[in-house]
Amino acid sequence: MKASLMVLPGDGIGPEVMAAALRVLDRVAQRYGHQFSYREELIGGSAIDKAGSSFPEATRKAGEEADAILLAAVGGPQWDNPSATDRPERGLLALRKHFELFANLRPVRTYPALAQHVPLRPDLLVGVDLLFVRELTGGLYFGPRKEMGTGDEAYDTLLYTRPEIERVANVAFRAAQRRRKKLASVDKANVLASMRLWRSTVIKVHEEYSDVQLEHVLVDACAMHLLTRPASFDVILAENMFGDILSDEASVLAGSLGMLPSASLGATSFGLYEPVHGSAPDIAGKGIANPIGTILSAAMLLRYSLQLETEAAAVEAAVDAVLADGLRTADIARRDEGAASTTEFTEAVLAKL
Ligand code: IPM
Ligand code: MG
Repeated sequence: MKASLMVLPGDGIGPEVMAAALRVLDRVAQRYGHQFSYREELIGGSAIDKAGSSFPEATRKAGEEADAILLAAVGGPQWDNPSATDRPERGLLALRKHFELFANLRPVRTYPALAQHVPLRPDLLVGVDLLFVRELTGGLYFGPRKEMGTGDEAYDTLLYTRPEIERVANVAFRAAQRRRKKLASVDKANVLASMRLWRSTVIKVHEEYSDVQLEHVLVDACAMHLLTRPASFDVILAENMFGDILSDEASVLAGSLGMLPSASLGATSFGLYEPVHGSAPDIAGKGIANPIGTILSAAMLLRYSLQLETEAAAVEAAVDAVLADGLRTADIARRDEGAASTTEFTEAVLAKL
């Protein structure tokens, strides 16, 4: 098949992990007889520097013409000025919002080869395989806000409408139906009005999915349960910021934040794919970043936007096999193990493919 992808390397380690993922996509194209074309555009801090905006017009247009978007990371200390009018993260949020990518899928599982690297009792990790469905275009990130400006007051608002909750809940219930048929809906209904709307809407949507077992978990309790009973979760549905926080926490179960991929989907097969980690400015340019999050995001792109399930599974199996062989980038290597560079790890994945 032919597919045109917009690629957004972004900032920090972004270009390094993007290069790794594109090599993997090229190998997939070669092996399975596909043609993938890449159009590279700007996003985030480097877009502010080069095009004067964190989400330039050209990026929006190229995205509209693409079948899917692969993004690496945005942000960095040089753009962290509190009085700045534009910020790298704004570009990413604008991109998600522009394409109405309201459902962010973040799978988390424990790799047997890495169980010794996780700071939890190994018996707790057996069978950990969960999927976050994070609401991505509403909630606390997008409600009415007031910037600090020169004053002493600032606020953000957690606002949801029933249809916004319904559409993401539908995605989560459908995902649960294809998995172990369990959904944990995260909220803070004991305190927040918006979260009472969340809970009552999820209960209503559940009527259409009677084969799925639904539990409601308060967000603070969920943060604890992720560490005390991680294997009991299947699909976890969460508000935008709750999902942001809990998925970073859950990355510990996988071995490192560098492992987690994500897919952001809307109403069609078009999607944005990005690792869950950030731009890691402290290690940028050193060639040691973990490329797994971006490589597995490319696998999700193959699966969800291009319907290439065999190819997606082959990429995932290749990553598994390299980990099983004992290769680790610095973030997952223990002190007694040598660390592979980004390139070494990527080449090992290519060899498996
Ligand atoms: C993520 C990131 C982003 C978010 C930032 C970079 C805006 O933390 O994708 O999890 O908060 O959504
Ligand atoms: Mg985050």
